[in-house]
Amino acid sequence: MASFNLLYLPGDGIGPEVMAEVEKIVAWFNAEGIARFETDRGLVGGSAYDAHGKAVSDADMAKAQAADAVLFGAVGGPKWDKVPYDVRPEAGLLRLRKDLGLFANLRPAICYPALADASSLKRNVVEGLDILIVRELTGGVYFGEPKTITDLGNGQKRGIDTQVYDTFEIERIARVAFDLAKTRRNKVSSAEKRNVMKTGVLWNEIVTRVHKDEYASVQLEHVLADNCAMQLVRWPKQYDVIVTDNLFGDVLSDVAAMLTGSLGMLPSASLGAPDAKSKRRKSLYEPVHGSAPDIAGTGAANPIAMIASFGMALRYSLGLGEWADKLDAAISAVLAQGLRTKDIAGDLPANANTTQMGAAILKELQKVA
Ligand code: IPM
Ligand code: MG
Repeated sequence: MASFNLLYLPGDGIGPEVMAEVEKIVAWFNAEGIARFETDRGLVGGSAYDAHGKAVSDADMAKAQAADAVLFGAVGGPKWDKVPYDVRPEAGLLRLRKDLGLFANLRPAICYPALADASSLKRNVVEGLDILIVRELTGGVYFGEPKTITDLGNGQKRGIDTQVYDTFEIERIARVAFDLAKTRRNKVSSAEKRNVMKTGVLWNEIVTRVHKDEYASVQLEHVLADNCAMQLVRWPKQYDVIVTDNLFGDVLSDVAAMLTGSLGMLPSASLGAPDAKSKRRKSLYEPVHGSAPDIAGTGAANPIAMIASFGMALRYSLGLGEWADKLDAAISAVLAQGLRTKDIAGDLPANANTTQMGAAILKELQKVA
């Protein structure tokens, strides 16, 4: 039986609540002998800061390096608004991405038929939607130097962030996008701002070359990132795979999330390059939603994005794609039965809390097993 090391980093706010539902599913896999998961847990974000004054400890970083997959909840909250910038909760997530080399962030936006009315867009616009945002995750303005605020001494300050991309960073994310497009509807839309940014000019040039040399059979189009945002709310079904940089990917994926009905629905996978020998990729799986401190502890959180993120781990890290399909089918079935947490209930009252939603999905999974 296949055996895997999983590291739980539940984080802050609703993170631990939605993670608890995944832990029950993992326990069931173990009990049924479907796979053998060795699990460990660590702290990240505000909870790590409270425990040891850092957004993630070196010891937990070492555990993350050794894991077959890291499952990440969410970080942040008003409690830590005033902590120093370099140990703020988000710094833990950024360190994990950077140190593990997780350059490829996959954010699928799928509109489950039962949820087409939960979106703020019209049913015909979102029904059947299945797009994938491939976001570059270890470069660009998130990490570029200089990144400073300097006092100009005349009552003015200057804030600087640096958007920087090297050829290899664009090549490798483009390849991820083209490879994934081949398994889908064979179309890549590359989004940048070549009309105002040099990194956009380079991005466009490199994606065009990689396409011509290696992936000519895939359909490629270039779109300006602002136009892409507009097209996403106008007619999102024109897209298959969207490949874009770190910052545009952050923004466009929140837009895409809302098309599916709720931010509480969107999972993500962050992958490193395959190891030359073992072919193993470092990986981290997290819901796109944040820590939602306003609803933490109320039972209102939707665990679906976290559970679907575990599904992506089954597919991309653990070689259990068949079980990923079953888990997706279980989520779909529960939604079709009408179960709704608050975020996807629309004008009706919610009829499930976090644990009820998690339990219903596990029950469906047990049926198809
Ligand atoms: C995301 C989040 C993060 C990001 C934050 C929490 C640092 O918004 O994963 O989309 O900006 O990348
Ligand atoms: Mg974001």
